[in-house]
Amino acid sequence: MIIEYDNISATQKYKVMSQSIIPRPIAWIVTVDNDIINVAPFSYFTPLSSNPATVIVSIGHKLDNTPKDTLNNIRKTKKATICFVNETNLENMIASAEPLAKDISEVEKFNIPTKNIIDHYPPIIDGCDSAMFCDFHKEIDMEGQTIPIILEIKSQYFNDNICDERLNIDLDNISRVGKEYAKSTKI
Ligand SMILES: Cc1cc2nc3c(=O)[nH]c(=O)nc-3n(C[C@H](O)[C@H](O)[C@H](O)COP(=O)(O)O)c2cc1C
Repeated sequence: MIIEYDNISATQKYKVMSQSIIPRPIAWIVTVDNDIINVAPFSYFTPLSSNPATVIVSIGHKLDNTPKDTLNNIRKTKKATICFVNETNLENMIASAEPLAKDISEVEKFNIPTKNIIDHYPPIIDGCDSAMFCDFHKEIDMEGQTIPIILEIKSQYFNDNICDERLNIDLDNISRVGKEYAKSTKI
């Protein structure tokens, strides 16, 4: 199922976003530059507004002081696909945090399967339950090493049976809880 954010109201955007970005999920970001698929996790990730539908992700620099590949790629291509991590792909998410040279793809190195869903956006990680296809909106100059990037959600993928026609969503995201990872707790 694909929800086009242009076709739903601000109230519906709020409904979808507030049931998706829970409780403090990791943004597993896929970007593409020169056909090289880059994947990396980011926990400085939070919803910002549902009108416009935006999230913010803070991305730092590598040890050599150059921008991380994800930041470079978003600046260049203006596109990012944010996948939500589930229990099945937790290990791949952790592996993909390894700093690699820009011309080496985490997807190739760690055999992470991807799937093209929407033209002109990076692929999703195959097996993820939801992913947001985003456009670069704005960069915030904090005069530091970590750059907050505002991304606008243009559409969102849900795996079968995760989201119903009334936009009730049943996601069990892996989140960062202190030093550990945890699934969403359901009461
Ligand atoms: C769970 C987790 C959360 C992370 N969160 C962030 C973050 O919010 N910001 C950041 O700059 N790096 C974060 N990192 C580190 C990046 O994933 C790591 O630097 C990665 O190599 C960046 O890859 P890239 O150069 O391909 O963009 C996180 C790593 C893990 C495992």
